[in-house]
Amino acid sequence: MSHASSSARAPISDLLRLHRDGRLDEAAAGYRRILDSRDPVDPVERQVAMANLAAVEASSGRLDEAVDLYERARSLAPDQAGLAYNLGCVLARRGDHARAAEVLEGFLRASPADFEGLLLAARSLRLSEQPEAAAVRFRQALELRPEYALGHRKLGNVLRDLGRNEQAIEAYRRGAALGDSISPHLAAALSGDATERAPAEYVRTLFDHHADAYDEILRSLGSRGHELLERALSDLRVDWPVQRALDLGCGTGLGAPLLVDRCVELVGVDLSSRMLENASHGGAYDALVEADAVAFLHARPSAHWDLIVAADVVVYFGDLGELFDAAADGLAPGGHFVFTAERCDDAEHMLTRSGRYAHSASYLRRVAHEVGLRVSSLSSATLRLEAEQEVPGHLVVLTRPPA
Ligand SMILES: C[S@@+](CC[C@H](N)C(=O)[O-])C[C@H]1O[C@@H](n2cnc3c(N)ncnc32)[C@H](O)[C@@H]1O
Repeated sequence: MSHASSSARAPISDLLRLHRDGRLDEAAAGYRRILDSRDPVDPVERQVAMANLAAVEASSGRLDEAVDLYERARSLAPDQAGLAYNLGCVLARRGDHARAAEVLEGFLRASPADFEGLLLAARSLRLSEQPEAAAVRFRQALELRPEYALGHRKLGNVLRDLGRNEQAIEAYRRGAALGDSISPHLAAALSGDATERAPAEYVRTLFDHHADAYDEILRSLGSRGHELLERALSDLRVDWPVQRALDLGCGTGLGAPLLVDRCVELVGVDLSSRMLENASHGGAYDALVEADAVAFLHARPSAHWDLIVAADVVVYFGDLGELFDAAADGLAPGGHFVFTAERCDDAEHMLTRSGRYAHSASYLRRVAHEVGLRVSSLSSATLRLEAEQEVPGHLVVLTRPPA
């Protein structure tokens, strides 16, 4: 530090050039020299150095330092709206959504028609539990760019949070009409329209988004899925380990401990690359493949797998014909397909408000029969808690009859 403050100060214009050229360390060292200088420094130069050092810190992921510098720069130039925007961005990245919303509201007073500012404010408002205000900001952003499909989906999400289902469906339908591939599923989940399965893009986006928090979310829901599957696996009359096991929709790999000692080769397949990345950290899988479950099963030879496990994955399929058919084809004679599913009693399958499907026991039995799988066991079980309500489900073992 003393070295930095004893060196000569470069003109701010030179430092900005270094900054623009991506020579961030050199630019940052120059900004610090200005800020640490004991000689008088022009106040504008000082403020520019502070704001730009904040930008370097933010781009290096040092968010606390960036927030502190932006706050100080703002106290030197309270009228500079851009500083409020940048500070709001960093606060949002740091997860400080309530403060981000407050700062961005300040920015919007100066720049009320800033599209990016409106979107970021809307997001921060939603994440800080202010859905009414978030809806207002999303609507204002969409007035500026009505063709922004993702914005309609986001507005729909806020309206859904607010329980305004009709308005949410309307927003999702606009998003869908503008080409958003996720909105149709969300509209269907609220309207109860029958659909065959959750679109791959919906599943991918959902799980990419939640990948890092997934394990924690599952714990907080008191999920019993793996415990149930462990019970089903230990009840199987199988000579462990089997040769090949497939964790279908393996997610972050929470099912791997059930399988790793029960097979010689364990493969995981999932649509979400972020979930797979987390699954790779445990080192339990011999291969992890980013693919759709049905497409993956069909791409492998028939009769390949001794065991297929799907923990909380069947819920992303409404019609189970294709999935069961692919599993039946992929299983070796005598092999088992073990999974959990959500239960409904009034329909064969239905898309629930959560965006997942529930299935009736008779439907599971019928489709299994149609694809030539034997129902070895099918029992009712509570899967987890949702809004403090028990989610009813099935624990199922289907078996390909021995040759
Ligand atoms: C609720 S998570 C369960 C993850 C994991 N099985 C577990 O027990 O923690 C559902 C997973 O299934 C994956 N998934 C859903 N539909 C899929 C499909 N059609 N093909 C492949 N993966 C799918 C999702 O990406 C997600 O990672």
